[in-house]
Amino acid sequence: MYHFVCNYDRLVPNIPFPTEVDERFVIITLIDNEVYCIEDVCTHDGGALGDGETEDHCIACPRHGAKFDLRTGAALTMPATEATNSFKTKVEDGKVYVSVDE
Ligand code: FES
Repeated sequence: MYHFVCNYDRLVPNIPFPTEVDERFVIITLIDNEVYCIEDVCTHDGGALGDGETEDHCIACPRHGAKFDLRTGAALTMPATEATNSFKTKVEDGKVYVSVDE
């Protein structure tokens, strides 16, 4: 089930937008005109990723520096070894929707 998240115009390219969808903390990011959503949880020790520094399509966990791909949730560097969840998105009539169903 898709949930409305924000207007498409709210998203700034490559700037993560942390928010909550259906009681889950997520990060929405517009990259190359595609909207991506990953869970705002680091798989190393549960830190929130949303305040992390970004570079290209990656975000670094503020706690110990593990990097994740904002498009897929893949863990790119230690100390994280497992991907964080990624979720489906869609854009309709200028509005962004996310499904956090697994
Ligand atoms: S909690 Fe994210 S790198 Fe440790």
